[in-house]
Amino acid sequence: MPVMGRKTIDDVSLSGKRVLCRVDFNVPIKNGQITDDTRIRAVLPTIERLNDTVLVLCSHLGRPKGKPNPEESLRPVAKRLEELLGKQVTFVEDCVGEKVASAVAQMKPGDVALLENTRFYPGEESKNAEENRAFAQQLADPFEAYVNDAFGAAHRKHASSYTVAQFLSPAVAGLLMGTEIGALSKLLEQPREGFVAIIGGAKVEDKIGVIRSLLVRAETVLVGGAMAWAFLKARHYEIGCSLCTPASLQAAVDFYADAEIDRSGLVLPTDCHMLEARGAGKARKIVPVTMIRPGWNALDIGPVTIKRYTTVIRAARTVFWNGPMGYFEKPPFNEGTFAVAQAVADCQGYTVIGGGDSVAAVEQAGVADKIDHISTGGGASLEFVEFGSLPGIEALDPA
Ligand code: 3PG
Repeated sequence: MPVMGRKTIDDVSLSGKRVLCRVDFNVPIKNGQITDDTRIRAVLPTIERLNDTVLVLCSHLGRPKGKPNPEESLRPVAKRLEELLGKQVTFVEDCVGEKVASAVAQMKPGDVALLENTRFYPGEESKNAEENRAFAQQLADPFEAYVNDAFGAAHRKHASSYTVAQFLSPAVAGLLMGTEIGALSKLLEQPREGFVAIIGGAKVEDKIGVIRSLLVRAETVLVGGAMAWAFLKARHYEIGCSLCTPASLQAAVDFYADAEIDRSGLVLPTDCHMLEARGAGKARKIVPVTMIRPGWNALDIGPVTIKRYTTVIRAARTVFWNGPMGYFEKPPFNEGTFAVAQAVADCQGYTVIGGGDSVAAVEQAGVADKIDHISTGGGASLEFVEFGSLPGIEALDPA
């Protein structure tokens, strides 16, 4: 079935073809060990479906800024994929050129290979259209078809996730792309009444677009994480030394200055859990947000806010959650995030979570199986909610 009017692997015959499949294997790796393989597991159905093709996977990993960096090699991912598939996965130490051409020439239908990090080349992310196109053409060169199953990177107009579709035909969506878009589209079809969005994290400037869009779509937008302090500061609250970059503050100031926005659904924390920035004892305190003082650092939403947010979430008909409520990595400042995770799990409505920390929170709380859809893309799910589409999908063949 087509996805957003674009063809998928179900709509074309790829049997026997040399297929370049873009996946999002941007997984966390510590000391050469993959600490979360969710994104690798998520594309196994597509890989299995394409088992009669010469299948070559490509992905980015990290942000190497156009230069090779052994720390950001995809080699450990090839090993993990091999374990998960139970068959050999050839790792190719480049993503374009002679090494790829000769690896592909030796493959037969049913074989699987993974190319090295596409971001080792500047053309991948280049904003220079010519450079970007030239790299996309090089990527496409050994192949006959393109499959995009990299939902997590579908918001990037990069060579391997967007431009390359111009050079290969068919260019279609994979199964993960279909699942993600299906689940997120369902979210966007829900009525405004009872739709609760929870947006956390640090950077207002990154999420202000989606907050604006959610204020139209949702009845309530609960704000948490460091971005809440920026919103409060923009309204002239004292926030002590809580995290608030100039860019975040500016985005929050602009948001309040915009007369077009109906902010009635926006809910900010009313209390916080804070830490004394200086002093041997590093005291902690829970106070109303009106009582944050210089020298104190708000690191989580407080118990009154937790109660308010979780009550609203439990009663919701639809929930979309992206971003932690506080300094989630540093207990006890993970309490707000965990309470929200539990409340989303308890909600009987349609629940969708996107974004690394929120996903980690539901997993650590042991409630991941109670969520209707956990997206493999944080930024991509936000952009889909904001714009209702993504460049990586739009680049594919119309159905
Ligand atoms: C992600 O982890 O959100 C995607 O892989 C995209 O990565 P990027 O933000 O580095 O483009």
